[in-house]
Amino acid sequence: MALAHRVLYPTAILSLDEYVARGGGQGLSAARSAKPDAIIEAVTASGLRGRGGAGFPVGRKWQTVAENRALSSTPSTVVVNAAEGEPGTLKDRTILRRNPYLVVEGALIAARAVGADLVVFATKRSFEGEVERVRAAVEEAEADDWSDGVELVVYEGPDEYLYGEESALLETIDGRWPFPRVVTTFRRGLLGKVTDDDPVGPALVNNTESLANVPRIVGRGPAWFRTVGTEKSPGTVVCTITGYTDHHGVGEVPMGTPLGEVIDEIGGGPREGRRIKAVMSGVANGIIPASGLDTPVTYEDLAAIGSGVGSAGFIVFDDTVDMAAVAAGVARFLAVESCGQCLPCKLDGMALADLLMRLGHSNLQRTDYDVMNRRVADVADRARCYLAIQQQVVLASILKHFGDELEGHLSGDVDPVAPELISELIDIRGGRAVLDSRHWDKQPDWSYNKTYSGTVPVELYTGKRPPWSP
Ligand SMILES: Cc1cc2nc3c(=O)[nH]c(=O)nc-3n(C[C@H](O)[C@H](O)[C@H](O)COP(=O)(O)O)c2cc1C
Ligand code: SF4
Repeated sequence: MALAHRVLYPTAILSLDEYVARGGGQGLSAARSAKPDAIIEAVTASGLRGRGGAGFPVGRKWQTVAENRALSSTPSTVVVNAAEGEPGTLKDRTILRRNPYLVVEGALIAARAVGADLVVFATKRSFEGEVERVRAAVEEAEADDWSDGVELVVYEGPDEYLYGEESALLETIDGRWPFPRVVTTFRRGLLGKVTDDDPVGPALVNNTESLANVPRIVGRGPAWFRTVGTEKSPGTVVCTITGYTDHHGVGEVPMGTPLGEVIDEIGGGPREGRRIKAVMSGVANGIIPASGLDTPVTYEDLAAIGSGVGSAGFIVFDDTVDMAAVAAGVARFLAVESCGQCLPCKLDGMALADLLMRLGHSNLQRTDYDVMNRRVADVADRARCYLAIQQQVVLASILKHFGDELEGHLSGDVDPVAPELISELIDIRGGRAVLDSRHWDKQPDWSYNKTYSGTVPVELYTGKRPPWSP
């Protein structure tokens, strides 16, 4: 199987001139001579689905933002979600390193379609190389009159996982902590833009890869986009392969490629002499047992086996890995990153992390195991954002597929294990993933103090100026 190169260029494009010489800019030219409705129609007809995690149809979101914008006197905003915090995912940063111009072009087309006067590239301060590339691309685009009066801003946010959640992203850009809002972003956008008598305009938040697909959809047409992929999952997807594979990497494949082939092509398959036991699609979807390796990577096929594409960051586990350690690692990551606005998410999540750690240490009674199952059932109650549902979905799937293995720790017959490190990817260097191991020291109040204050982030930080605020 050959890798695709629609949005992930094989080599880095180093200037806007080089991008244009290689065919860049045709989507924006086509958009400039089209009506906003026609641009939205093209994106809708392409069937492009959001690559940030939920797979929501991009054209439908643009249509909603355009309609909501018509009800408001404040222009809308386009926010490029380049926060990339999903464990096991490095694809947005790889796209930006190779070709930030594609994303700038996609965002400018989106701005025309939804009537936006501002585009915010929401990256992280710690993504130094990508920030530099995006800033340079924005300056070149402005100098070459690509922006047509639309203001382009590069925002450098914090490392918190929740910063990538789209309403928390807007909160952060507005100068507050990344705590998810109740009201949807496509209804109420950036509050910082509002003057006293103006209602709030909507915001279009799209993932970096979603927007990178837009220039060619608009330039070449939706039928071209659909020449690869399936009816419900057209186009390509940029996958990250990490975990217990021969090596790690990022690559673009046609949607519909079997998961096992993706792992072989990008990660070199399992390590010598080992076999794949399970694959996690980030920490947002049900775990995929080895029997699911033939499943085509599409929204419909992965959903049919109880998982999902998510942000196509596939973390592979082989037969040396104890799934109790994986469950404990996932529970800890999500419980620490929870903001505490919904108490079941934070408190049941922390209890689950503790119970699973003790289970891995073969230090749990059967009655506690039953309590653990009840906590999984309760953790997503009254959840404001998807994080709590992730905790429930991932843990329930591990219990379903690997319950016997977990229960082995109750009898003490199985060797104790420490939680697996499940955390954001800092980079992939020399074919090896570098995970953010600071996670082990991160307290559930988001500090790195020696002890936990006992207070949840939302109580500790609401009303306080974030340290990353300009
Ligand atoms: C806890 C959490 C973290 C998220 N992190 C990211 C992220 O880092 N990058 C991203 O694009 N989307 C992230 N999302 C998804 C966004 O909320 C949103 O669905 C996405 O930006 C929409 O873009 P799309 O429709 O183009 O996929 C996250 C969601 C949740 C619940
Ligand atoms: S579900 Fe969890 S992370 Fe999301 S808002 Fe509620 S407490 Fe915060």
